Amino acid sequence: MAAPASETPTNQDAEKRHAAATALGWVRSGMVLGLGSGSTSAAFITLLGEKVQAGELQIQATATSRASEALARQLGIPLLEPRQGLRFDLTVDGADELDAQLRLIKGGGGALLREKVLETASDYLLILADSSKYVAQLGRFPLPLEVVPFALPWVLDAVEALGGAPIVRPNAQQPDGLYRSDQGNLLVDCHFNVIADPAQLALQLQAIPGIVEHGLFLGMAQAAVVAQGARALVVRAGMPDAEAEGFAELP
Ligand code: A5P
Repeated sequence: MAAPASETPTNQDAEKRHAAATALGWVRSGMVLGLGSGSTSAAFITLLGEKVQAGELQIQATATSRASEALARQLGIPLLEPRQGLRFDLTVDGADELDAQLRLIKGGGGALLREKVLETASDYLLILADSSKYVAQLGRFPLPLEVVPFALPWVLDAVEALGGAPIVRPNAQQPDGLYRSDQGNLLVDCHFNVIADPAQLALQLQAIPGIVEHGLFLGMAQAAVVAQGARALVVRAGMPDAEAEGFAELP
């Protein structure tokens, strides 16, 4: 008998697992890892946990969200607290959109601030994605902003002036009906539809007081693994896409 629709793994789920398994093949004992957030990262953390439990990998890690930290802890992955001087050999994370220049939109799961903090402290950022995330132009996915609650009205005005059609992210489970980040801030999703110049938009958003962080990750990732059915492609900025199976080590 077929499983109920909600339990049936989709092609997208299979691609996420495929990308995660590919990345796991490049993790080496002794690495200090950053662990991303979201469903693709959860697939990676789960596979990583299996290797750690089997004694096949000795690593330490810090997570980019409370949810990923809880998953890693449950799987027995040794966790490091944030401290001065802590750097990561490799951070593995998902994305909501990426283009051929490895420019990313992140934060669909609300973890963009901690992600950007850890990924800035990482020597290598590897992005995992299913094929739906790899786009010709960024912007169809609403760009998330983490916003200090007091500043919200003026941030909305400023984002509207930039053409971003902002929507404050809801959460029906919260007393005020609004989603809160791990830091207690609000999330605003900006519907640009097309982001013609991501670098210019990033500068404009950074200049708006009250925006703690935006979800454009530019010039940060060294490579992405994009799963397309049974294939996994390595995407690097300025280089042709290549089959991931050709890489014994990190691309
Ligand atoms: C979390 O805030 C995000 O940046 C995620 O990395 C992104 O939303 C991808 O999530 P999925 O892997 O669930 O698609």
